[in-house]
Order: sequence, then C-alpha cells, then structure tokens
Amino acid sequence: MHSQQKVGAVIVAAGSGERMGGGDKLTALLSGEPVISRVVRTFENCRLISRIVLVLSEANLERGRQLATAGGWSKVSDICPGGRRRQDSVVAGLKRLPDCAWVVVHDGARPLLSEDLIRRGLRAAEATGAAAAAVPVTDTIKVAGDDMLVRETLPRRELWAVQTPQVFRRDILTGAYNNLGDDVVTDDAAAVERSGQRVKLYMGAYDNIKITTPGDLALAEALLKEHGR
Ligand code: C5P
Repeated sequence: MHSQQKVGAVIVAAGSGERMGGGDKLTALLSGEPVISRVVRTFENCRLISRIVLVLSEANLERGRQLATAGGWSKVSDICPGGRRRQDSVVAGLKRLPDCAWVVVHDGARPLLSEDLIRRGLRAAEATGAAAAAVPVTDTIKVAGDDMLVRETLPRRELWAVQTPQVFRRDILTGAYNNLGDDVVTDDAAAVERSGQRVKLYMGAYDNIKITTPGDLALAEALLKEHGR
C-alpha cells in the first residue's frame, strides 16, 4: 500500500440483532460504552484510516448521528442505511468511499478489535489486494445434512474461523460484488474468492468475538477486564 493512498473503513452494523433477545447490540453497553462507539473509536484512533462509513438500520440512523456528535467522530463522513443482507449493507457503504484505494470492512458487532489488527490486515493485503483476519479452529468441524448424519470430517489443520477486519483494494471488492448477482455470501472475502481472486488470511485474535447473543456481551466484558483495557 502506498502511503499516499487513502484507506476507508466500512463498519456494518445494520443487522436485525434478532439473536440478542430484544436488546439492541448497537447501544448495548460494554464497560459503560455503546458497542458501536468502541468500534468506531478504534478506527478513529488508527492513523492509517482516513475515512469511516457507518452503516446502520433505518431505525438506528438518528441514534448513530447522536453518538457521532457526542463522540466527536471526525473521520465518520457518512452514516447510511444498510440493506436486507450483510452484503447489501457492505455494498451501500462501499458506494460512499469512491476516493479510497483501499477499504477495511469490519462488523460493528466485533468491538474488541485492536488497531494492530487493522494495521496487520493492511500489510497482509498488499500482495493480493485482499486479506481477512482468521484464527485456527479449535473444535473439530464436521459436515452433516438436515438429518444430522455426518457426511464428512474436515482436516482441522487446514481450517480457519474467519473474522473481520477484511481488507481489500476497493476496485477488487467492488468488482467482486458487481459480479456476485443474487448469490449469498456471509463474508466479503467469499465474494472476492468467487471472482477468482486470491485472498490472504492473516492471524486474527481469539478475543475478537462477534456479539451475537446476550451471553457474548458478558464474555466481551470479561475479556476486556482480563486484558485491563
Ligand atoms: O449477521 P452477521 O452475524 O453476519 O452480521 C455481521 C455484521 O453484519 C453485524 O455487525 C451486523 O450488524 C451486520 N449486518 C448488516 N446488515 C445486515 C446484516 C448484518 O450490517 N443486513
């Protein structure tokens, strides 16, 4: 990455949060701070990031704007509505970063990311133009059908649990999503893989968890305490 090339961040937080049991993930407090504020703060503090687009559900747009004002988020250039699927939300955010050569996509539901994870992602993406944070799986992973009968046990040493940040040259990611059509992907790297481009994995962090259920919030709180952050 050339030092003069701009890097934009797309933070997607427009999910319905169905699995939170009624609580709102966006504004749920983690060490007294809304989850999304913690995420944005990490990107604000990272010197490699020029601009941030925050993608929220329609219902949360106003709340998001209030948090931006209260937090003095100087890099947040857009707060825009997301779409039905995660990939629609990413595409909506990407459209707002036409001047950035590189984009870092991150789940708003992963508040424990570090600046280091962003920096290492940008470095990892240099050669291929696409990189995703990932950790080796610790469980054995099996493939089963609807009947719950095992079809296959995958070799664990080749398996990685993929996280965000995911870092891309903007033209590669935009092209991949343009070519995707109606196919559904659960992460951005998958769109790029399908377009035939190489994606590099780099070491993520086991504590970079995604807050999905109320239990995850308690776990994130415990992880924060443990690290004294
Ligand atoms: O649903 P999933 O766990 O993959 O969500 C990962 C991230 O994508 C979350 O931060 C969620 O808010 C976001 N998302 C989104 N728009 C959607 C669905 C998910 O921004 N339609």
